[in-house]
Parts: sequence; C-alpha cells; structure tokens
Amino acid sequence: MSLQKYLSEAVGAAFASLGLRPELGQTVPSQRPELAQFQCNGAMAAAKEAGRPPRDIAEDVVAHLSSREEIADIDIAGPGFINLTLTDHALADWANRLSAEDHLGFDPVPTPRTVIVDYAGPNVAKAMHIGHIRATIIGDSLARLFQFAGNKVIRDPHFGDWGFQMGLLIAALEEEAPDLPYFDEGATDFPPAPPVTLEDLQRIYPEASARARNDQEFAAAAREKTVALQRGRTGYRELWRQMKEVSEESQRADFASLGVNFDLWFGESDVRDRLEPLVEKLRSSEIAEVSDGALIVKVDEPDDNRELPPLILESSAGGYLYSTFDLATIQMRVEEQGADLILYVVDRRQSDHFTQVFRVARKTGIAPDEVEMEHIGFGTMNGPDGKPFKTREGGVVRLGDLIAMVIDAAKNRLDEAHLAEEYPEAERERIAMQVGVAALKYGDLVNNRSSDYVFDLDRFSSFEGKTGPYLQYAAVRIKSILRKAEEAGLAAGTVTPPGVGEERDLLIELTNFPEVIERTIELRSPNHVAEYAHVLAGKFNRFYDACHILSEEDPARRASLLALVRWTLATLETLLDMLGIEVPDRM
Ligand code: ARG
Repeated sequence: MSLQKYLSEAVGAAFASLGLRPELGQTVPSQRPELAQFQCNGAMAAAKEAGRPPRDIAEDVVAHLSSREEIADIDIAGPGFINLTLTDHALADWANRLSAEDHLGFDPVPTPRTVIVDYAGPNVAKAMHIGHIRATIIGDSLARLFQFAGNKVIRDPHFGDWGFQMGLLIAALEEEAPDLPYFDEGATDFPPAPPVTLEDLQRIYPEASARARNDQEFAAAAREKTVALQRGRTGYRELWRQMKEVSEESQRADFASLGVNFDLWFGESDVRDRLEPLVEKLRSSEIAEVSDGALIVKVDEPDDNRELPPLILESSAGGYLYSTFDLATIQMRVEEQGADLILYVVDRRQSDHFTQVFRVARKTGIAPDEVEMEHIGFGTMNGPDGKPFKTREGGVVRLGDLIAMVIDAAKNRLDEAHLAEEYPEAERERIAMQVGVAALKYGDLVNNRSSDYVFDLDRFSSFEGKTGPYLQYAAVRIKSILRKAEEAGLAAGTVTPPGVGEERDLLIELTNFPEVIERTIELRSPNHVAEYAHVLAGKFNRFYDACHILSEEDPARRASLLALVRWTLATLETLLDMLGIEVPDRM
C-alpha cells in the first residue's frame, strides 16, 4: 500500500467518525513543503454536506488524529486545510516497507484486464513517418505501464498491408516488369525470392502514389488490383506476400533498435477472411446502405457539433478499406484475444476515423458493451521551423535514418563528456545506441502526449537538463556508488530515521511512486512518469551531496543511506523501463 493511501485512510477514518464520507480524507503531498509534508483539503468539501464551517470540521478531524504516534505535527491553515507532518520514525518504517515490495508500493489492479495496445501501424512499402514514430514510442510506454499494473497486455502493430497501396504497388510493378509470372492469371509457379528490394519499394511506392493522383486510368487499375488481391488472385497474393516480407524485415530491425517488441505481429491482412462475411452480414442488415455505389454506414448523431461523414465498408469498386479492416480487427480481438480494453495509439488527425469505427462497432454489436475502445491521440513532432519534422530535402523522415541520427549524436556527446572512452568498441556502440534511443524517447515522452513539440536533437541528447541521457547517467552513477560500496564490503541495511533534510526529502519523494504510476495510467500520458524521474534524480543529487555515504562512520547510518541509494536505483530503473529506456551498467 502506498503511504498516501495509508494516510488517506487514517484521515478518512477521522471524517467517518464525524459521520462524513471517508473519501474526504484524501491526503496528498503538500503544495507548500516548507510548511508540512502532506495536506488534506477534505474539510472544505465537507462543509457544504455537513452544513458546518470548514474550520470546525478540520478541528474535529485534527483532534481525532492528534493521538496517532506516527504524526509529528498536524495543524490547520487558512479556511480549513489540514497540514500534516510525519515523524522521522514513521517515515523510516514506510521506507523499509515500500522499498522491499516488488512493485515499490504500487498495488496491482484487483481485476486484471486483457488490454490490447494497437500502436506503431507502419504500412508496407511506405517509410514510417513521425506519426508512426510517436505512436511507437508512446504505445510502447503505455503497454509497459499497463503490464506493470498487472494487466494482460497484447501488443499489436496493425501493419497497413491490405489496402490501396498494395494495388498501387502491383499496378506499378506490372508496368515495369510485365513478364513476371505474378501477373499471369493462370500461373501457379513463382520464384522463391522477391522481385523487389526495399529500395525498389521505397522508390516505386511514392512514384505510384503521386501518379495515381493525376492519372485516372492508373488509379482505376490500382483499385482493380486491390480488389483482385483482396479476393484472392493467386499471383497477386504471392507478390503481396513477398513485398510484405521485404518491407517488414526492415521494420522489424527498426523496432529492434528501439527495443520495441510486439506480441502479435498482425496486420490488416490477418483479418482478410473475416471481411466478406462481416460486410455481407451488414449489407443485409438495416444499418448499412448503398450510396454512390459504395456500401456505407451513417454514424452522425444529433449532438455532434460538426458533420461526421459515413463510414465506408466497401468502395464502389468492390474493395474493402481501412475502416473495414479496423471493424474486422475489433471482431477478432474480441473473439480471439478476449479483449477488455483496446487502446489505439494513433496520430490525433485520425480521430474522426476512430469515432466512425467505434460507433459502428457498437451499433453492430461487433464490440459488446463491456469492451472499451479508446483512441489515444497525440500531437506532432515538429522541426525547428515549427512544422512537422521533415528531412533536409523536405521528405518523410525514415525511422531507420532517425535512429542513425540519434545514435550519432549520442556518440558525439559521449566523446564530449569523455564517457565510455576506454571501453571495448562493442560496448561503446551499445552504450551509444542506448543513449541515442533514450534521447529520442525521453524527448518525446516528457511532453504531454496531446501537445506538439519540437525535435531538438542537441537538447535531447545532452547529459544535462531534463533529458533521457541525464537520467541514464544518474542511474549509472548510482550503480557505481553501489558497486563501490560492495567492493568495500559495505551492505545496505535497515532505513533509520533520516538525519538531514535532503535525506528526508528523497525518502518522501520515493514514497510518491505509486500515485505517479496511477496518474500516468489514468491519463494515459507517460509524461508524468518522465517528469517524476527527473524530480527524483534531482532529489537524489542533493541527497548525495549532503550525505557522505561511503565515508560515513556510523555503520547503521551508512547501511541506511545505502538502502536509500538502492531504493532510488530500483525506482529510477523501473521508471526508465516504463519509458522504454535502458540503463547501461557503466558509462
Ligand atoms: N497504418 C495506419 C496509418 O499509417 C495506422 C494504423 C493505426 N491502427 C489502426 N488500428 N487503425 O495511418
């Protein structure tokens, strides 16, 4: 149990003894730490319900609590704020209790849910853009958080591999190399190796996509091929499979460098067999209607403040679309994965799409009432010009290039700071990669997810300031303190009552961990964890300056200080892990 919950229960019991709701006892860290450690504002809320002045109520609550021996000080400020400070003994007791717990005081959810996190969403043959990069970083962090909380988490990238871009690729390739057997309707024998490389795909796709915008005939051909692929034409299926393989191989490598892993490596195409039955069922229902040759479902509701276009189930050419795939995927997730909650970590520009899909999923019963679906949108990563981040040539930033860029920056920073200088080359490389990835992820996650932010590699990769590398370095330094202690034969022991202010501050900060995790999960915004890690590292630095741990002569006090060091490291590593950031052993 967290310290804040324990205090809230104690103060709540005092409210209850006055015949008031125990929830009024909610106790939180003080906004004015120079006055007290904790505060409860419940008397103000109680005043109305009780028909008594808040100060009166606060006085009764305080009277009820003042005999508790863990409380050093309790008084009333202003109109009825209850300020509370614990004894150093009580703090030490809590430290010994929380630091020994697996979850550092966080109570796992009482009823674990199956949570599907749908994130990353790269498309076959298209370079991942910054939307996919943010989705990957935020989605991975949320998956880690929900898992830490005790849920069953299933990560699924939902590759874009079944839509119009496949038809475009097939059409373009057929023009380039019409003799390949894939285009021959009757062929059954195909070369084992793909006819294209990743470079080919990345050249062909943008060309084809640009061309389809002006060339009606080409666009129609691509649509036809999309439909043929979806309906199972053998040569197209084989070509599709091979193109997908080429493309996914490189995407998997990028994910691996980011330390991102999925449980299901599914794409839109994994629900291909569900599409026709689903669409046919809806076609014969009241819900779907034909409009301009397409099969649609109207989703607008009287209270909408702007017009929401209908969802298109089947195009006039007979093809299935992005929304159709999402509906069939919900059906699969409910039936096969037993989803209770589905989080879609996708660019907020897709919010209409998700409103459409969620409404249709509910209306049709594809998503039963008890299954929750949420779109976790986010803002854009901008360049220094304040516009969405692009390459110097104005093109889409490839994830692979971005990773290379941050690793390069990390190498320079390590050189500058004379870190990892004499390590074996392989270790240096590994550290540079960990630091680069930390720069990228923290630079993103420290922002509230719905805000836009500027990608500033210089700032993100610095070992100073609010950055990933700063926190990594802080954790590495703590590891080295513990290593030195071990070498000197010194062990951590029981936490004793704090001797100086910096020690007390660190201890109290550490007890906030459970509430930070709760808030982060509730708001689905990892910036609270990122922020807290930074505050904690700062408090640790001040503690470390004030307390000379290794030269401390009193063995009990030294063992206690080492216990705080160890607890800080465990907390910091857990926080960084939730952000997808690895801590090297040394630097
Ligand atoms: N492939 C999509 C895109 O690039 C993102 C997929 C997001 N997930 C989903 N279930 N729709 O825009």
